[in-house]
Amino acid sequence: MIDFTSTDVINNPYPHLAELRKAGKPIWHDGLGLFLAPNHRDANEVLRNKSLGRIFVPKEPSSEWDVFNYLHSDSILDSEPPKHTRLRSLVMKAFNKNRIEALRPNIVALTNRLLDEIEAKGGSFDIIADYAEPLPVKVIAALLGFPDEDEHLLRPWSQSIVKMYEVNPSAQHKEEAKRAANEFAEYVHGLMLLRKADPTDDLITELAQVEEAGEKLSTHELIATCVLLLNAGHEASVNGFGNGIVAAFQNPSEWEKLQQQPDEIATTAIEEFLRFDAPLQFFDRTATQDLEIGGVAIKAGQKIVSLLGSANRDEEVFPDADTMNLSRERNPHIGFGAGIHFCIGAPLARLEMSVSLPELFKRFPALELAGTPVRRNTFSLRGYESVPARTS
Ligand code: HEM
Repeated sequence: MIDFTSTDVINNPYPHLAELRKAGKPIWHDGLGLFLAPNHRDANEVLRNKSLGRIFVPKEPSSEWDVFNYLHSDSILDSEPPKHTRLRSLVMKAFNKNRIEALRPNIVALTNRLLDEIEAKGGSFDIIADYAEPLPVKVIAALLGFPDEDEHLLRPWSQSIVKMYEVNPSAQHKEEAKRAANEFAEYVHGLMLLRKADPTDDLITELAQVEEAGEKLSTHELIATCVLLLNAGHEASVNGFGNGIVAAFQNPSEWEKLQQQPDEIATTAIEEFLRFDAPLQFFDRTATQDLEIGGVAIKAGQKIVSLLGSANRDEEVFPDADTMNLSRERNPHIGFGAGIHFCIGAPLARLEMSVSLPELFKRFPALELAGTPVRRNTFSLRGYESVPARTS
């Protein structure tokens, strides 16, 4: 059975996932003690079925994991209705299409600034460190009101916390996650108290005021929400961009499309980036009662995983699924999830990528990768550590 920690699977999971899909239904993974849903129909159903929930199991001993635990149990992502509905509706107001669209001029300005900095470097740069990463980090930090001078703290905190989402995190990763959770929560709490005393027009102020207004958001819920937004607001965006760029470079006809018609292709290209090599691959759900998925019986308490990247390569839904096609018209990928936990940040991620992708190629039409991209050694959150490139 597939080993999600093996280098072979991490380097290229797709042939292994294609093998899993051959069963045509969810399959039991003995080692992990859960079901895997590798095809599109079942993976989609796992995310939508109301008898399956995101049930967070607190880590033990609770005295050590206290903060990490509440950052999850009190967050939107790891709660279920009615709590999920209440938390999500408070945040949704800030992430509706109009408010996100209003960020466009800032995103364009930021993109141009990053491109200027890359140009000033004189030719060689790293697509991750110099472009894919700073844009979403700066955008989400500005939206929340996270101070510029401390932005460098966000990525390491987030990276330490998300290592816990991999299959079998090491003892060292557990320690780092605990420490990052404590530091991050303490920082956000301090910021929240500052904003309460001295309100501005950022999202932390807005959420802190909701808390004051009528106990709709407890202190822990507020901190957990801000931490989730700050993490989710960049983690997958960085990786989605990096994965897509590398795959496009390996497909010369698609790279050519990006060089020759960057604006025309942008909308379909970013969806294909997320379909072809999904930055988030593995999300589990727990059965709250007995049910069936794809004809397979799942008992109350059992877990089943929606394999997003595998679903996105399902031949039954995507013709030539293993071929990257940046002008693919019909693209019902589930890279942003589905059902009640569907990504809140999808409009923001789409806006950022639809600006940054064409602008990169317009500024540097002769862009090419230079050297071997370095993969991160993780399956669930799939991305590159670095992608060396040159501008001419
Ligand atoms: C390319 C970029 C992104 C991808 C591929 C992505 C993907 C996803 C997926 C698959 C889920 C659902 C997880 C599940 O069902 O268990 C999700 C949820 C979420 N995402 Fe994103 N995301 C991206 C960017 C963002 C951004 C920019 C934000 C900014 C705030 C964000 C905020 C969230 C939040 C708050 C949730 C939880 C929603 C809920 O539980 O109701 N994401 N995302």
